[in-house]
Amino acid sequence: MAKRKKAAKAKSKAAAKKTAKKVVKFTAKKLAASNGLPRPSAKPWGQAGRALDGVRILDFTHVQSGPTCTQLLAYMGADCIKVERPGIGDITRGQLRDVKGADSLYFTMLNGSKRSITIDSKHAKGKEILDRLVKLCDVLVENFAPGALDRMGLTWEHIHKLNPRMIVASVKGFGPGPYEDCKVYENVAQCAGGSASTTGFRDGPPLVTGSQIGDSGTGLHLALGIVSALYQRNRTGRGQRVLCAMQDGVLNLARVKLRDQQRLKHGPLTEYSQYGEGVPFGKATPRAGNDSGGGQPGWILKCKGWESDPDAYIYFITQAPVWTAICDLIGKPEWKTDPDYATPPARLPRLRGIFDAIEQWTMTKTKFEVMEICNKQDIPVGPILAMKEIA
Ligand code: COA
Repeated sequence: MAKRKKAAKAKSKAAAKKTAKKVVKFTAKKLAASNGLPRPSAKPWGQAGRALDGVRILDFTHVQSGPTCTQLLAYMGADCIKVERPGIGDITRGQLRDVKGADSLYFTMLNGSKRSITIDSKHAKGKEILDRLVKLCDVLVENFAPGALDRMGLTWEHIHKLNPRMIVASVKGFGPGPYEDCKVYENVAQCAGGSASTTGFRDGPPLVTGSQIGDSGTGLHLALGIVSALYQRNRTGRGQRVLCAMQDGVLNLARVKLRDQQRLKHGPLTEYSQYGEGVPFGKATPRAGNDSGGGQPGWILKCKGWESDPDAYIYFITQAPVWTAICDLIGKPEWKTDPDYATPPARLPRLRGIFDAIEQWTMTKTKFEVMEICNKQDIPVGPILAMKEIA
């Protein structure tokens, strides 16, 4: 009897162990799937596809801002179907053409990694094809003039009815407000977004910058908006509209100047050279020449050869932690302890003179020599590199 009991106990113990094993196995397996997320890929790094593989973009973009956005998405793996106007195409195909008979570099540098199709969006057959594409795609990206997409019949309501998962992303010049119907190009956005009024020298006119912060900058912002909308769609199952206004994009990139506008209410901007020069501040953030936009003063200084080479200059930052190294380097060791120079606040009213002294030293070296010497001492400097030196 006792023997039978013992055998039964052992049997049930073994069964329990088996079940426990099963349960553990089952739970582990289930866990990976039950939270809705795929199990981690076992493929080697770099071989598990690209981030946006499987995402299909109906690319209605032209010129620079929109194409910048869709090209980034294409680089990430999205399938971009670029729709162009029959007989005309994206206007940049023929603009600034470098090689006769070929699409311009302006066009190809913004539209590589995409497929192209011409469709007349105002023709009945074209509309039919577009409706089919709307049903097939995940995202529609456009940067037409305000109202143009609606005039094609591709209203948000129409698109959303055909494909509730569709994300409709747009670049426009301005957001809601008095200018929302205006057409906008790069420099219009730079001017309206606060960049031009804060760029250049105090005694000169406002300046636009060569970096395409209005076009490419807004395209970058839009790409992030689209990726976020795709991520949210995983949760909601629903598409949404994403809008980036170029004025807002520029203002976002010029936000430190907006910061300074607010700071002006509380007194002069002491890190601007104008403060040390005794020039009073007006009511708006002024143009600051080559002053640094942050808390570590900087300026562009001449280097050896500046008389004949327009790019023989270097940006020099007098970062506080390396001030003593700078003093030794430029032959001003006394500034390390002089109360007029030893601390960052003491130096602020003297920036012009300090940079003049540093320049006396940089002018004895090429920009690359300055780079070499300073970086060894952790002094942040940036050579002015011409495009020919980078390309
Ligand atoms: N089939 C038929 N018509 C088409 C078409 C197609 N495949 N693609 C475009 N069109 C039509 C548009 O519907 C529009 O017609 P409509 O005015 O009758 O509605 C027409 O072409 C012109 O489009 P539009 O966007 O107004 O081009 P534009 O050359 O006159 O203006 C911009 C160019 C860039 C100023 C303007 O598109 C804009 O302000 N875009 C938003 C801001 C922006 O992205 N600017 C930066 C550009 S880098």
